[in-house]
Amino acid sequence: MSTPAPNDPASHSDAAAAVPGRKPMDAIMSLCKRRGFIYQASEIYGGINGFWDYGPLGALMKRNLREAWWQDMIMNPAWGRRGPNGEPVRCVPVETCIIQHPRVWEASGHVGGFNDPMVDDRETKQRFRADHLCAVWNSLKLEEHHTELPRDKPFVSVIASTPGEAVAHIQSNPKLLRPYRLHGSFKVSPFDDRVWVAEASDKDATLLLLVRAVEVDEIRAHHDLIPSPFTQKRSVLTEPRQFNLMFFTYTGAVFNEDAKVYLRPETAQGIFVQFKNVVDTTRVKMPFGIGNTGRSFRNEVTPRNFTFRSREFEQAELEFFCHPSESREWYAFWRDFRMEWWKSIGLAGDNLVLREHDKDELSHYSQGTSDVEYRFPFTAPGFGELEGIAHRGDFDLTQHQKHSGARLEYFDQERGELLPNGSRRGERYIPHCIEPAAGLDRGVLALICEAYTRDESRPSPEFMKFHPRIAPIKAAVFPLVNKDGMPERAEALHAELNRRFGRQGLIETDAKQTIGKRYARMDEAGCPFCFTIDGQTMTDQTVTVRDRDTGGQTRIGIDRVAAFLSDRLGD
Ligand code: GAP
Repeated sequence: MSTPAPNDPASHSDAAAAVPGRKPMDAIMSLCKRRGFIYQASEIYGGINGFWDYGPLGALMKRNLREAWWQDMIMNPAWGRRGPNGEPVRCVPVETCIIQHPRVWEASGHVGGFNDPMVDDRETKQRFRADHLCAVWNSLKLEEHHTELPRDKPFVSVIASTPGEAVAHIQSNPKLLRPYRLHGSFKVSPFDDRVWVAEASDKDATLLLLVRAVEVDEIRAHHDLIPSPFTQKRSVLTEPRQFNLMFFTYTGAVFNEDAKVYLRPETAQGIFVQFKNVVDTTRVKMPFGIGNTGRSFRNEVTPRNFTFRSREFEQAELEFFCHPSESREWYAFWRDFRMEWWKSIGLAGDNLVLREHDKDELSHYSQGTSDVEYRFPFTAPGFGELEGIAHRGDFDLTQHQKHSGARLEYFDQERGELLPNGSRRGERYIPHCIEPAAGLDRGVLALICEAYTRDESRPSPEFMKFHPRIAPIKAAVFPLVNKDGMPERAEALHAELNRRFGRQGLIETDAKQTIGKRYARMDEAGCPFCFTIDGQTMTDQTVTVRDRDTGGQTRIGIDRVAAFLSDRLGD
């Protein structure tokens, strides 16, 4: 792998852990590797930047997240609630190709507009997104004669999507602010979305730092003045240039422009191009949704923050089509449901927020967009996007209608003037579309960060508090000792639970090592329940149930274990 960028929180020591409340990203990544959640792709060849593989526990966990999405968005959409029209919500799935006709991406705007402005460091050859540059732009030294430091020259710049993330980054690298030798005492507060004020204390003085995002035009005008975020050297940055994020390849044996095709950068367009087929071949009636999950590819300029910004990732997207007059209500419906959904699988609390975009952030066709955002350890105290819910109007279907020549209007028999025979004249229109677009890899990462818990009073201090629906291992069955009939009883119970719950996740059994070590291993994997067969089981047919989060133990009848688990797993 290309060496991790020096500014990558994953690449340096986790001073961030010293900030109260922030979880240590180094420890989380190390647990992910040690327990087989996430591995670097092609690791034995040195890795490849922006690509990650899932190990056994990670693959199971991601499957659980995908299944939960599939179940709650397609099979039983919105948990069986009625939509704003008073009727049950209807959704169907599709599974579309990664490679589509290249004109799909012209119509969608990705060929012309899916660009990031990129800047190179001429010396180190490192590359970053110009719109991800934040700088300590201004600073004021309090005390010590109230001297002001130069106002027009940023003396530190870092790569971060938001000034909040930049502050977190500077906090975790106090060396960046040399010669001010900060002691790590930082008080920060957002001034607005674009500017953060950080009060940093040195042993002699207090600095007030103004941290803000640098506009791409400013880099264009002052690229000699702005220090490189990698080395802090000036006069090494190039001017920003546009860089298309789509990976491409060629179909067939001849490699020329006519054979050029793209790897999809989103699953959504597969839905729009099959809209007509779904309407014509199934019995869907407006309003309805079409869901699509699968891999998407973006040649991100600076992949970073573990799996957060990868070059290959998985999306779970729904396009919900409705009559234009109902679109605002459906937008609010899906926005609120998606927030509730993430809470329901374990992201409840202050780390999750719903952020409605300001009017000036919206695309010209959009009447509203909200992001479900999570406070990742590397964005804290700021937040990073987990899912976007966008009101896309009729933009996509109109574009594809224009570019393909196919009629993508919908004929709605239940609308239009009431006729004397009691039926309706019908209405032809291009539906509006509400798009909840989630990232499964960011979802897994948020769930892992949220679940990671340290409790020094436990024999093995790290454990993962996964929601039972997401936990890769659902339960474990242990014989207390490997004799006196206990292994046989454990094996029988394990087989019963595996038959009943095996399709939801792993049911483990293990007879090696002390019981304490076996519990600790399950805690680290986030297994919510362990059932232990002990001497008492042989006399009164009860087992102990150990709770992962409290370590508390209770006894229940061995014949009640399946029902107990079924209650908790929602089987
Ligand atoms: N069809 C709309 C769309 O693709 P997006 O906000 O670009 O919208 C949706 O992507 C979600 O996909 C994001 O909220 C995020 O969870 C995930 N995602 C996007 N780019 C990603 C990347 N480079 N790495 C991991 N996940 C990504």
